[in-house]
Amino acid sequence: MPNATSLDLLITLREVLGEAHVLTEGDLSAYEQDWRKRTRGKALAVVRPGSTQQVAEVVKACAQAHVSLVPQGGNTGLVVGGIPDATGTQVLLSLQRMNAVRSLDADNLTLTVEAGCVLQHVQEAAAQAGLLFPLSLGAEGSCTIGGNLATNAGGTQVLRYGNARELCLGLEVVTAQGEVMHGLSGLRKDNTGYDLRHLMIGSEGTLGIITAATMKLYPLPAANLTAWAAVPSVAHAVRLLGLAQQHLGAGLTGFEMMGQFALRLVDKHYPQLRVPLWQEAPYCVLLENSDYESEAHARERFEHLLEIALEEGCVSDAVVAESLGQARNLWHIRESITLAQAEEGLNIKHDISVPISVIPDFVDATDALLAREVAGVRLVNFGHLGDGNLHYNVQAPEGCDTAAFLRDYEALVNHLVYQSVKRFGGSISAEHGVGSMKVGCLPDYKDPVALAMMRRIKDALDPQGLLNPGRVLD
Ligand code: FAD
Ligand code: MLT
Ligand code: ZN
Repeated sequence: MPNATSLDLLITLREVLGEAHVLTEGDLSAYEQDWRKRTRGKALAVVRPGSTQQVAEVVKACAQAHVSLVPQGGNTGLVVGGIPDATGTQVLLSLQRMNAVRSLDADNLTLTVEAGCVLQHVQEAAAQAGLLFPLSLGAEGSCTIGGNLATNAGGTQVLRYGNARELCLGLEVVTAQGEVMHGLSGLRKDNTGYDLRHLMIGSEGTLGIITAATMKLYPLPAANLTAWAAVPSVAHAVRLLGLAQQHLGAGLTGFEMMGQFALRLVDKHYPQLRVPLWQEAPYCVLLENSDYESEAHARERFEHLLEIALEEGCVSDAVVAESLGQARNLWHIRESITLAQAEEGLNIKHDISVPISVIPDFVDATDALLAREVAGVRLVNFGHLGDGNLHYNVQAPEGCDTAAFLRDYEALVNHLVYQSVKRFGGSISAEHGVGSMKVGCLPDYKDPVALAMMRRIKDALDPQGLLNPGRVLD
């Protein structure tokens, strides 16, 4: 039951946004449940502002009532950071109505969009102007640019274009006090003091609410070619990465590795996708070569690279997509791993990074450790090898009750994997963020001074602790 203060707040929110955009009844699961359906919260209300001014007024009203706020974009986050907790006291602020493309400056190679703009629409707006917005991930049909920036999303083009942070030139942000920080400059150089944009990016809604962003665009390449290669081991995949960087240079725009069991799940749940070569090798690699000259040039360089890789034995077999349709299908297979894993049942998800040079040793050591400590587990190992980022996921043994497996083994499996990551000098969150899922173990893996500085920044910018409490910092 909302108390008197909450009821007053709801009245104010309805005055600011109109009845239709303050939701308290009906099926709110799209806002209250996380994408993996592992956690369900309960909001005091779901509010849907349509402008930056309305966001600011919502924040002011909540601050006055001492009610906390959880910003949300497409709700595709994988660390339970964008849904309310279970208390029924938090306001869920959805940015989805703020989805306009505000402007595109082709000469400056920039695009300014509102935070709720779906990533795919941002890509399409760039393409309509004959330009490229390179951020790309499996959830691009529903995640938003605000969510991408709040999590500093990575995806499949990071090794060439960087993650969301590198693509952002300016932000408009509503602070915890309800002020608007106007920073949509589109400048590539601006050294006038602390760069608050970088503080907001990756802060997962705990320091401010992103309402709009100016993002970098690139010229469209003349051709994108995709190849799929079977490799005998992770070490061979790393060697192939080195060869690809040497022979394709900046043309190498994607380098994804997929373990056999991950591909077997795609084959099992989506047989129509016809996964190539997966039975022939323990790992497959998806490579993309973007070329500014011509398709013929791209193909020539790609084929040359694959010939050398075959000769060296780091590739046992390979196919180069012959058409755009074939290339799309190969990418679709890669992007379907997460969905195939969800079809197979609940699993223990990891998003780790280690230096690329130690990936083979990390995988060998961690595979052996898990096989020894948790008999029969199935490893769904795949990810952005070109960035040193693996989704080293752990599925219950065949035939095992998945809920019971998670209950009994999740803490142990996380501990084993994270300790291994630490030994190899890595990070326990490469691209998904901390959310509430990793907040408890962050102190074990983050430098204590860095953590204390993060706490001081949080206290300075959000002294009431109203923005997404319990996420990133406990
Ligand atoms: P949400 O899930 O709504 O929110 C995520 C976090 O950001 C929450 O903490 C929320 O409070 C905060 N937030 C959202 N909007 C704002 C805002 N405007 N201002 C301030 N804070 C805000 N991630 C990757 O990095 N790489 C991948 O390759 C990748 N692939 C994925 C594939 C699938 C199939 C799925 C389901 C997810 C994948 N993700 C990936 C995770 C997810 O898509 C990203 O984290 C994405 O950036 C989240 O965007 P969103 O709009 O859905 O944010
Ligand atoms: C991916 O790379 O596909 C994503 O980050 C999603 C996942 O980890 O499942
Ligand atoms: Zn990923």
